[in-house]
Amino acid sequence: MPGPMTPRPFRVLERRAETADTWTLTLEPADGGAVPAFGPGQFNMLYAFGVGEVAISISGDPAAGGPLQHTVRAVGPVSAAICRAEPGEQLGVRGPFGSAWPLQAAAGRHLVIVAGGLGLAPLRPALLGALARREELAGVHLLCGGRSPEELLFRAQLEGLADDPRLEVGVTVDSAASGWEGHVGVVTTLIDPARFDPARAVAFMCGPEVMMRFTAQALLETGMGAADLHVSMERNMKCAVTQCGRCQFGPTFVCREGPVMRFDRIRDFFARREV
Ligand SMILES: Cc1cc2nc3c(=O)[nH]c(=O)nc-3n(C[C@H](O)[C@H](O)[C@H](O)COP(=O)(O)OP(=O)(O)OC[C@H]3O[C@@H](n4cnc5c(N)ncnc54)[C@H](O)[C@@H]3O)c2cc1C
Ligand code: FES
Repeated sequence: MPGPMTPRPFRVLERRAETADTWTLTLEPADGGAVPAFGPGQFNMLYAFGVGEVAISISGDPAAGGPLQHTVRAVGPVSAAICRAEPGEQLGVRGPFGSAWPLQAAAGRHLVIVAGGLGLAPLRPALLGALARREELAGVHLLCGGRSPEELLFRAQLEGLADDPRLEVGVTVDSAASGWEGHVGVVTTLIDPARFDPARAVAFMCGPEVMMRFTAQALLETGMGAADLHVSMERNMKCAVTQCGRCQFGPTFVCREGPVMRFDRIRDFFARREV
């Protein structure tokens, strides 16, 4: 049985462009074994052979079974090599690692999901899980922001979701050329108009840290409690198994306690870039 530091070979089945610099890869085990079960919000370490390894959240549906899905933005050498992988090529996979979005905390309450840019990728499994158990929740409210319409992730799927009576969808962009008929403004401007009861709500948010700080502040101002806010902390990782210290954040290791963390437990460290 390979240890947690040994990547397992997975074959690329499909590579789909999401935006100009972001792709969703569908991966199946090359050894014929099963895809390990995972929770919404968990991540894998993806290894581009000969280049390096990075942490990438799982963006597929945990209940669907079948191949893995990862949505990756090419920002540097390793992520770019992963994004270039063509069907038939292999990547190494270690995981899944980390904590999951606490969907059980949303039972009987409103679930507010706030995503900034690529942050929608780790939130997608939670959204799909919430829709599958929609009758157990008081409401599902998806609030998404992107820099421009072209950079909105899963745009076609978001348009499909807009007609879904099971959830309220708000989409905004920071700026847009003419032709965009949607909302313009930062994602926090979607919070006031959203129809949720702050006294009976739980929120999941993921995006750039500055976006999560302002979003947490805006949600607290609605009257929500800090213990009902959950964030995904995407600090850099190396080992993912609490050995290297690379992901240290205040007194915690994000690879052990996170990436999904309760806001009241980390708010004191949240404002700092590296602690
Ligand atoms: C738990 C977790 C989940 C993640 N999920 C995803 C995901 O689903 N999809 C995805 O595309 N990326 C995700 N990331 C980020 C991804 O791991 C980094 O983008 C990757 O490490 C970049 O490596 P690189 O060698 O390609 O670029 P590098 O050369 O390491 O970095 C290129 C540029 O990106 C910046 N950068 C690197 N890492 C991060 C980071 N974590 N956050 C913000 N800026 C960073 C660097 O400062 C630099 O400016 C996740 C990270 C973590 C820790
Ligand atoms: S990534 Fe090595 S300790 Fe967390």
